[in-house]
Amino acid sequence: MSSPSTSAVDERHRVFRCIACGDLSAAASQDFRCVRCGDLLEITYPNWAQSRPDGTRLKATWRDRRASSRAVDLSGVWRFRELLPAIEADQVITLREGNTPLYELPQCSRITGVASLFAKHQGMNPTGSFKDAGMTVAATFAKRAGFHWVACASTGNTSASMAAYAARGGMRSLVLVPEGKIPWSKLSQALDYGAVTCQLRTDFDGCLELLQQLVRRAPVYQLNSINPFRLEGQKTLAIELLEQLDWQPPHHIIVPGGNLGNSSAIGKALVEMLDLGLIPWLPRLSVIQAEGANALVRTLREAAGKRLISVSPETRATAIRIGNPASWKKAANVLEASGGACEQVSEMEIAQAKAEIGAEGIGCEPASAVTLAGLKRLLKQGLVKPGEIVVLVLTGNLLKDPDYTIDFHRGDLFEGTRDQQASTALNSLRHPPIVLDANLDAIIRTLEQAEKS
Ligand code: F0G
Repeated sequence: MSSPSTSAVDERHRVFRCIACGDLSAAASQDFRCVRCGDLLEITYPNWAQSRPDGTRLKATWRDRRASSRAVDLSGVWRFRELLPAIEADQVITLREGNTPLYELPQCSRITGVASLFAKHQGMNPTGSFKDAGMTVAATFAKRAGFHWVACASTGNTSASMAAYAARGGMRSLVLVPEGKIPWSKLSQALDYGAVTCQLRTDFDGCLELLQQLVRRAPVYQLNSINPFRLEGQKTLAIELLEQLDWQPPHHIIVPGGNLGNSSAIGKALVEMLDLGLIPWLPRLSVIQAEGANALVRTLREAAGKRLISVSPETRATAIRIGNPASWKKAANVLEASGGACEQVSEMEIAQAKAEIGAEGIGCEPASAVTLAGLKRLLKQGLVKPGEIVVLVLTGNLLKDPDYTIDFHRGDLFEGTRDQQASTALNSLRHPPIVLDANLDAIIRTLEQAEKS
């Protein structure tokens, strides 16, 4: 696997550190767990202690790269490569990920009363979710390590992303997904990108458990967010966000929580940026979960963050239908470091927030909408003040789960659930499709009625 330029990259600049016992190692085992205590690993850069990257110079370098046409510079992840594990530019597997827009949300701003409300839309990545930012890094290192097979357990987006990057890198991919619990649009991506796709009769947590066993038995590189290379790539969401805000931190960043890799990555990026002098202070980072998949909420409330309280997950926001989040400890640590909160929101609140974001002409998948729903709760609790600058991280594209959106607008989403009656309160947000005869008068009547409503 080595190329003539391999020696140009100093691999010693990054090490794996166990988040529990602090053990340092140059290499990681197949399951990315500490060989001493079994906890998760993170990547750190000991060289920064001696030769700290200069914040001002970094900002200028990253800005200058925007004018470059090299593939590594066109990637909104590798453009920030000084804060990533080092690799030769010609080995990078990229689909031009990152470079995602930061949108203002004027209508949601009026609804919530938060004067400065933004959405960082990670659903605008090549495969439609935030996973691409981590996958470009982890897939690159999988290839570099000589693996032929990569694998993941997924609620859909990781598998779509992994399959794409594996295909681009000339690797085979194995996907383990819970049968009947991921949207067709996500499944279809994995199929088209050539993954061997197994629909298992279990939930996400069951898939992940089997994957962890598999990587100990077979030469398969695991690309779940337990893999710390993934989180390094996902850090760039926060770096790019701060660049878009001219390095002035918002007061609050709000992110959905599932397996809790993304919140951990964003938190790590914020702490590193503060440490390197790229930002003057840490914004608060808050994590929002669905009520039916609220393991971190319960872990913090009922066990003071000391041990994981697993739950049997149930939510129509299938991306975050996870009961046993792998990165709970990392997420708990970054929440504590930033002074953020962890909240839960109901299915009705998620549906309402998703429709409100959609009405801005942006749209997202249900798991992403927990951020707006969570913001409303944080405002009520006084944890966010109306005068503050708030950024919602929208993690997936609207087109990732069209069934949810159609069910909502047709009024079927809550049919047969305990929310059926109460959900009529959301009727004003619904725009169901109208079936008409192919008749001009009928269309004009419909237009007139719509004008009145
Ligand atoms: N939003 C979306 C759209 C997701 O797909 C996920 C996770 C999350 C939020 C939660 O992020 O796990 O880092 O806390 N999806 C994973 C998957 C689990 O397999 O696609 P997290």
